[in-house]
Amino acid sequence: MSQPVSIAVVGSGYVGLVAAACFAEMGHHVICVDNDESKVKMLREGGIPIHEDYLPELLNRHRLNKVEFTSDLKSATQRSQAIFIAVGTPQSKTGSADLSYVDAVASEIARSIDGYKVIVEKSTVPVYTNEWIRRVIERNGVPKDLFDVASNPEFLREGTAVVDFLHADRIVVGVESERAGKLMSDIYAPLTSGEYYKLPQAVPGSLNENNPPPFLLTSTKAAELIKHASNAFLAMKISFINVVSNICEAVGADVEQVAKGIGSDSRIGPKFLRAGIGYGGSCFPKDVAAFRYVAEQLGVDFDLLKEVESINEEQKKRFFQKVRAALWTFRGKKLGVLGLAFKGGTDDIRESPALDIVEQLLKEGAHIAAFDPAATPRAKEVIPPSAFMRYVDDPYEAAADADALLILSDWHEFSELDLDKLHYTLRYPIVIDGRNLYDPAEMIERGFNYLSVGRPA
Ligand code: UGA
Repeated sequence: MSQPVSIAVVGSGYVGLVAAACFAEMGHHVICVDNDESKVKMLREGGIPIHEDYLPELLNRHRLNKVEFTSDLKSATQRSQAIFIAVGTPQSKTGSADLSYVDAVASEIARSIDGYKVIVEKSTVPVYTNEWIRRVIERNGVPKDLFDVASNPEFLREGTAVVDFLHADRIVVGVESERAGKLMSDIYAPLTSGEYYKLPQAVPGSLNENNPPPFLLTSTKAAELIKHASNAFLAMKISFINVVSNICEAVGADVEQVAKGIGSDSRIGPKFLRAGIGYGGSCFPKDVAAFRYVAEQLGVDFDLLKEVESINEEQKKRFFQKVRAALWTFRGKKLGVLGLAFKGGTDDIRESPALDIVEQLLKEGAHIAAFDPAATPRAKEVIPPSAFMRYVDDPYEAAADADALLILSDWHEFSELDLDKLHYTLRYPIVIDGRNLYDPAEMIERGFNYLSVGRPA
């Protein structure tokens, strides 16, 4: 049986909280640290600030014995063998990652160290951050043999983060010493040994005890690059298929057939080849920009990433043009909108292409009735309700008397609408689907004027 490790996780945002809950689920003792007292209080009382499957179950299961919440970083550092830094690294004006939170936390940890610790960067950070953290800690007078810095990037998707953590395709750990490598391998042993998957209460997923995730031990710099390069590559795949979808539209081919054809090549793979209205969220846009900035700083030409970004912007505009072509003018028109989150399954609206499109429609005078299963409260903070913008409680209310219905996020429930009801609810049966949730032939047969992305109308 693997030995429990005492772990502190600094930052209880989506990465920190999911990591903390999953480490506890793997048998470790976890202290979750956040400097926001009200958040700590809420977590202590059983509240959960983010919408994430399985997170409530795991936190409830472990709250009393394996996870504690505090704002006291000093004591958490002293009581832990490994301290994971999972604070935000927002995008700065230059496109680079703003590392001031990481810097502040590293200094505070340094002032608290009283024995050997492994300090692990979990936030998405540019290459060399590890080196900076090490310097900050040394500058605070901590002797070299009292700490190591490791890099352990995460590859969690919002909405499926717990399953992605416990059933990871791979675990990447960058270290510069054997001692740190050993502790990190102990932390992940319940997963890499397959032990976790034998537990009756294990969260279900694709990996099992015979197929545990590989533990990839790398240099710290390689681990940092793996994170940025993975996100940039996935964003590139999306931009690639989006351009292919535009070619499909020009020649009358179906992008889904093309994506299946290319994705069946095991060297390419079928995932992240869904054409749509462009990628969004708190990761891809920020990480592509940050990685491009890293390359620029190093004098390496990575204009490919600039193209990835501009294709992504263009894709939103093309969708907007498609809506315009279907409706001619917007002033005074009523549009139903399904989906405000940057993708289905989350309440996150950061960099949401759906919101960009809605904002543009409002600018041009459209009246909108929007429905999202989870993101409405957050959307209201950005676009307050008004005579032009109504937030409604179900998809049919959004469609009621509308000149067209736009599908902008890929929530599963949007793919299961009662089409007959939808048809008589809309004023004109026009559906413009930015997520390709319906079969065009079926929609046409049912009397809709159905437009989607990269598929013949
Ligand atoms: C992404 C990565 O998938 C995770 O591996 C990574 O850990 C995370 O960023 C991060 O760095 O924290 P996430 O932003 O939650 O996860 O969302 P994704 O599911 O990757 O989707 C990103 C965007 O791409 C969404 O707007 C989605 O709608 C879009 N997308 C995705 C497509 O347009 N087509 C696809 O085929 C896939």
